[in-house]
Amino acid sequence: MEVFGCQMNKLDAELLASALLEHGYVLTEDMERAGVLLYYTCVVRKHAEDRVYSRIGLLKARKKLRPDLVIGILGCLAQSGGKELLRRFPQVDIVCGTAEFLRLPELIAEARQGRAVDALDLDAEVRFERRWNLGPNPAQAYISVMRGCDQTCSFCIVPTTRGPEVSRSVAEIIEEARVLAGRGVVEVTLLGQTVNSYGKRLEPGRRIGLANVLRELDRIPGLQRIRFITSHPRFMTEDLVAAMADLEKVCEYLHLPVQSGSDAQLRRMRRGYTSGRYREIIDRCRARIPGFVVATDFIVGFPGETDAEFEESRRLLEDVRFQGSFIFKYSPRPGTRAAEMPDDVGEEVKKERNQTLLKLQQRISSEIHKARIGSEEEVLVEGISKNDPNRLTGRNRAHQIIVFPGRREEGLEGCLVRVRITAATPLTLIGERLAGAVPGAIPAGAFVPLGEVGKIV
Ligand code: SAH
Ligand code: F3S
Repeated sequence: MEVFGCQMNKLDAELLASALLEHGYVLTEDMERAGVLLYYTCVVRKHAEDRVYSRIGLLKARKKLRPDLVIGILGCLAQSGGKELLRRFPQVDIVCGTAEFLRLPELIAEARQGRAVDALDLDAEVRFERRWNLGPNPAQAYISVMRGCDQTCSFCIVPTTRGPEVSRSVAEIIEEARVLAGRGVVEVTLLGQTVNSYGKRLEPGRRIGLANVLRELDRIPGLQRIRFITSHPRFMTEDLVAAMADLEKVCEYLHLPVQSGSDAQLRRMRRGYTSGRYREIIDRCRARIPGFVVATDFIVGFPGETDAEFEESRRLLEDVRFQGSFIFKYSPRPGTRAAEMPDDVGEEVKKERNQTLLKLQQRISSEIHKARIGSEEEVLVEGISKNDPNRLTGRNRAHQIIVFPGRREEGLEGCLVRVRITAATPLTLIGERLAGAVPGAIPAGAFVPLGEVGKIV
């Protein structure tokens, strides 16, 4: 299995892997040994889609050598490309959209009969139970609280590929969190495209929202940290801000995509707020939530973006001082409203604007990080540092990456460790360990390290 794209894809891939394991499949990292190759795909920008196409291209020769190989394209490209993909790429056996992935065992069996199969029903019911936590590490897990998106952002293909918004019941989410906590998970991240609109249509008279879920989760023994991504400015209610301020386990970190600092552009993007409103939300969060940090997404080069409009984005970034920004060059997505507008900002200008925001963000991130030097931080250890086997890496509540001395053999993965910050770069904090780290207790068999047996990238 290979996974492209966002956290929703990662979680869907985990749920699918769990279903396959129950059906007796074994995950392998060795492509030569695999009888089934599954690709979880992303089409949010053209670049993501191109990566998937080049992967599919490479599979042609492989399939020629091994005609018994079953190749499946899953997720957003499957949903948007549909059956046509089977015609265009004869090496592909299965095209399975974003809602029917739990049918994979059955689809693989059909494909083995020599049929090309598709499963593209967007209304199919998704079950979320999983027997194992297959997440990034034993102490962290994603929980889907809603699927789909009801917004109509003019640039975005996600509502087409993932369908309308459907919330899960509070009881189901809490039950899943309890099971995960019982297996040693200390940090859960709730997932939704507009996670803070959670609850819409659930129980019309009762106005259940994300804050209700957070309050219930906060009481679960064993859980230490609760995060949620991604929020939309339109749904930042007072209730949610209060929950972030008051609940001990809810982290003070908010990912709140702004997309642009220009009101004219926000209107063309159909985002449903102004930059003034966005600033107000942040001011209110800062006033109410101690230690509040915010990260965002920007799109540069959206149709019609003038120098003056771009300048407003630059100014917003500078004024708000985000901890981090994901900055994307606009790319037209078929079927969206924006794709009907002329893509009139040249590639060079997009690149330049992208660089301008990136550089500014780097400077700000660096300053925010430097301000932490000397402070004591609580780090949830995620594993060994990629660049140095004598260092461990993890994050504090503010979602900042912290690297400090330590080795895998100490068994600190999944533990909360206290660290004093001694240095900072734009991307990471560097620290020294303080006394008192105790290895966590993850029950045997509770975690299947997908990272070691399959490849989630
Ligand atoms: N609500 C979602 C947003 C999904 S898309 C979430 O959970 O993150 C992620 C980001 O990709 C968006 O916030 C936007 O900044 C960017 N994006 C979406 N469509 C795009 C496009 N056509 N071109 C460039 N960037 C895009
Ligand atoms: Fe896309 Fe806007 Fe929804 S960015 S996922 S349509 S909130």
